[in-house]
Amino acid sequence: MLRRLYHEQPESFAFTPANQEWAEAQISKYPEGRQASAIIPLLWRAQEQEGWLSRPAIEHVADRLGMDYIRALEVATFYFMFQLQPVGSLAHFQICGTLTCMICGAEDLIAVCKDKIAPRPFQLSEDGKFSWEEVECLGACTNAPMAQIGKDYYEDLTAERFAEIIDELAAGKVAVPGPQNGRYAAEPKSGLTSLRDFESGRAQYNASAQRAVDLGETVKRIDGTEVPILAPWREKGANHKPAPSSVKLNDEPVKTEAKAEAPKVAPTEAKRPEALAAPRAGKADDLTKIKGVGPKLEKLCNALGFYHFDQIARWTEEEVSWVDQNLEGFKGRVSRDNWVEQAKLLAEGKETEFSAGVKKGGAD
Ligand code: FES
Repeated sequence: MLRRLYHEQPESFAFTPANQEWAEAQISKYPEGRQASAIIPLLWRAQEQEGWLSRPAIEHVADRLGMDYIRALEVATFYFMFQLQPVGSLAHFQICGTLTCMICGAEDLIAVCKDKIAPRPFQLSEDGKFSWEEVECLGACTNAPMAQIGKDYYEDLTAERFAEIIDELAAGKVAVPGPQNGRYAAEPKSGLTSLRDFESGRAQYNASAQRAVDLGETVKRIDGTEVPILAPWREKGANHKPAPSSVKLNDEPVKTEAKAEAPKVAPTEAKRPEALAAPRAGKADDLTKIKGVGPKLEKLCNALGFYHFDQIARWTEEEVSWVDQNLEGFKGRVSRDNWVEQAKLLAEGKETEFSAGVKKGGAD
């Protein structure tokens, strides 16, 4: 399916203060220079807040993570979990139409969607509350046919039960997720054949359904105030330090053999490279020919007095270190993308693999 940005976009996007705090906590899990790793949770949170992912939301997340917009767009358009157009204000139904669900009745569920919601996927219901689409296997094939509603799975559906669930939602009631035919989880439909001892002592719902009931956020917009923001590592320092492998789950330190202490490497001294007040002959080089440099980063380089490939090509290790530390929002990019080696070729009038394939502006 072609996944494009919606033709009508809001003017802007901002996280709610609580979601912003949540986002900062997620970002702090990753070491300096690797903030882009938080892209999926942040996009997902933006979608949880607004219901769908608008262009301003994607760009907002990209800016916060110091990513080129194209990189964030690649993620948002690749994963079907991200909705690129407005969906029902109350709930969006994703019906699995892959083999197992198909032979167990997915087409009947889609018929219900067409009848009760709208004739076409992504078309909003008349009251704007609901929308639907067919999706690929959601990994719950044992309980086919199934649908994801909001964030939870509804399994072992029949057309009748599915229609009821839609009616219940319209009336303001969220059905308990999980199997809808009396099955507890994914055991045989005829009942348990083993581990029967656990039957009497188990919770009312299986763990996934119980969690969904406990959170109660199946179709809810998330403004960040629902659950406490847990980020204990932040109290210990700016960057997350993984727990040492010599700590057991009960926090009791494991005695390990004394190891020879690794030689300490002195941190590279940082030195500001020579800067220019303006580009030579009034014309700067196109720094976006360097892989990893988009228009924003180019502007930032220019603001620091770097306009030409030959300037970058001459940077020493200490100077790379300085620039890496002073590219606000893009720290660590120079060494990550090896600008100096690229700039050396470009300064000689040669092309890199990247510059040969990119047209000006194509990397943004
Ligand atoms: S085929 Fe529907 S969940 Fe796998």
